[in-house]
Amino acid sequence: MDAEGPRGWGSPLHAAVLEATAVGPGTTVLDLGCGSGLFARAATDRGARVTGVDVDPAAVARAAIEVPEGVFAVRDAEDPPAGPFDVVTAVQLLTHVADPVAVLATAAGVGAVVAATVWGREEECDIRVFGEALAPWLGPPRPHGNPPPVTEPSRLRAVAAQAGLGVERLDDVVCPFDYADEEELLGSVFESALGQAVGRRAGPVALRSAVLQRLEPYRTAAGGYRLANVFRVLVARPL
Ligand SMILES: C[S@@+](CC[C@H](N)C(=O)[O-])C[C@H]1O[C@@H](n2cnc3c(N)ncnc32)[C@H](O)[C@@H]1O
Repeated sequence: MDAEGPRGWGSPLHAAVLEATAVGPGTTVLDLGCGSGLFARAATDRGARVTGVDVDPAAVARAAIEVPEGVFAVRDAEDPPAGPFDVVTAVQLLTHVADPVAVLATAAGVGAVVAATVWGREEECDIRVFGEALAPWLGPPRPHGNPPPVTEPSRLRAVAAQAGLGVERLDDVVCPFDYADEEELLGSVFESALGQAVGRRAGPVALRSAVLQRLEPYRTAAGGYRLANVFRVLVARPL
């Protein structure tokens, strides 16, 4: 539901990518689908020289502010700068593109190492409970088509192989979404596009009550909420 998540949720994922690809001082990194630059920030903080591309001009503008040391451009992931780069990353990009094989094949053409991350399966991600809370006001869930989504490890491996990559490792990383209290939790729901759509249909009182009821098992002793979500980190090299 709230794929953006609370600020900072991606830190364990970013650290896992940077560790697995040995990014350090002087490493050249091309970040495909850089979004607002949080991964680029983490890479730069390790001393990397980061180039980021994204099709969304607003995201590229935010990334340039987040990482003044970086170089950012509005470009498609299938049309990146020539490189070569030590590491090419696609952090949470593959489920947003029409052709993940083409994106990884492009990455393989300009990078010595390629890293891609995706969500785990729905049942591995507590964030699904937001959708369950809103389900009474939503249509039936869309069935998974064929081929299966890249969140399936076997499919992700197959996509990498089709792109001409040899998989070195495929790791699971847990990233908790932490909300300090009810207000922060409900704020994230009411700010999301889906929450706003349901709010218009159900009214804010019913929406609030449905969310708090479904999220009750995820309450922490401190009065906040913690949702644990699995992500996969694929690291591969051109064959
Ligand atoms: C879920 S966001 C991830 C952003 C960032 N990598 C992160 O982890 O915070 C997906 C990003 O991919 C970008 N995107 C989608 N299709 C793209 C494409 N074909 N080429 C480049 N960027 C693309 C979107 O604009 C968006 O910023």
